This record gives sequence, structure tokens and C-alpha cells, in this order.
Amino acid sequence: MKHLNQIVVALVILTSLIACNDKRTRKVQYMPDMYVAVPYEANSVNPVFADGMTDRQPVAGTIARGALTPAYQFEDTNAGYELAKSTLESPLETSEENLENGKKMYAIYCAVCHGKKGGGQGILVKREKFLGVPNYKDRTLTDGSIYHVIMFGKGAMGSHASQLSDKERWQVVQYVQQLKINK
Ligand code: HEC
Repeated sequence: MKHLNQIVVALVILTSLIACNDKRTRKVQYMPDMYVAVPYEANSVNPVFADGMTDRQPVAGTIARGALTPAYQFEDTNAGYELAKSTLESPLETSEENLENGKKMYAIYCAVCHGKKGGGQGILVKREKFLGVPNYKDRTLTDGSIYHVIMFGKGAMGSHASQLSDKERWQVVQYVQQLKINK
């Protein structure tokens, strides 16, 4: 009993020394893994890897999910446009399904300027918010040239590459070609 009292007194003195000494530095951490992450933090030094850092580059030869098509090889220049126009071909077969989805995408991304039927009289043009939109009929278009224009834009038209996947771009191409024939 005597000993217990002594231990309690010693503990009280010890904790008060540790806890009250200097308020600006961190004291004993009772459960350190609640304060300090067990895994390596992003961007931290890491002895596990040869380069000594935690962050990894993708393994050579791997491809990001959704980016299975090879990189677009035509440049954003007039020469690139002409080359795509004369050589780039659609990998898609003409089908109801492709046309249907192309129509949907066209209605969302293109019709505001080009008009539902491709005549160049979209809502933005009618309200005079956007000018210089051609009627598709007045342009010589190929699958390749339409795809190229979706990728990079042309003149006042901006690129639509980020809004549409590779497949969706080709579906829109198919639909634009159909509009051109039908009108
Ligand atoms: C903000 C308005 C706008 C939107 C949206 C837009 N375009 Fe255009 N587009 C234009 C203008 C302006 C031109 C004329 C560019 C030039 O020839 O200088 C053009 C030209 C074109 C041409 C003709 C290019 C050529 O080779 O002569 C095609 C094809 C075309 N657009 C397709 C599309 C498709 C497909 C979409 C949707 C994915 C789209 N555009 C969305 C404004 C737009």
C-alpha cells in the first residue's frame, strides 16, 4: 500500500513534468498511429524504391483506362488537316446504333451552332451570338476531315475532343455525313 502511494505520486509528478513543461512542443503520443500515417504519404521519401521516392510513374507500355486507341497522329496544322482529310478513315461500320448515338451527341455538342440539320442555323447563330457557321453542304467533307475538326476545331470553332470519346467522335462523323446527304 505504501508503495502504491509512492508510485501514484511519482506518476503525477512525471506527467506534470512532461505535460506542463513547454506548451509549444509535442508531448508523448499515446497512440502514435492515430497521428502519424502508417503508409507512406504522397511525395514522401521512401526507402522501398530505388529512386527513393513514393510516387510511381505508370509502368512502361501501359495505357490509361479509356485511352485504348493510339494517339492521334495528325498535327494541328493546315497540312495535318489536309492529310487527315485525304487519308484518315473511320473504323466504324455504318449502323443504326452508331447513327443513333451520333445523332444524340450531335444534338448535345454541335447543333447549337450547326443547327439540327447541319444547315448552319443553330440557336446561337439565330440569336447572333456566333457567326460564320457554314452549311455542311457548302463544304467538301470527308470522314477524316470531320474527325480532324472535332479533334482540333477550325477557325472560330473550338476543339470538341475532350467532350467526346474516340468512338463517339466517329459516330458523330457518321451522323454529319448523313446530314450532308439528306439535305
Ligand atoms: C460554337 C459554335 C460551334 C460548335 C459548337 C461546333 N462548331 Fe463546327 N464550325 C463552327 C464554325 C464557326 C465553323 C467554320 C470554321 C471555319 O471554316 O473557319 C465550323 C466548321 C465545321 C466543319 C467544317 C470544317 C471544314 O472542313 O470545312 C465541320 C465538319 C464541323 N464544324 C463539325 C462540327 C461538329 C461535328 C461539332 C460538334 C462536335 C461542331 N462542329 C460544333 C462552329 C461550331
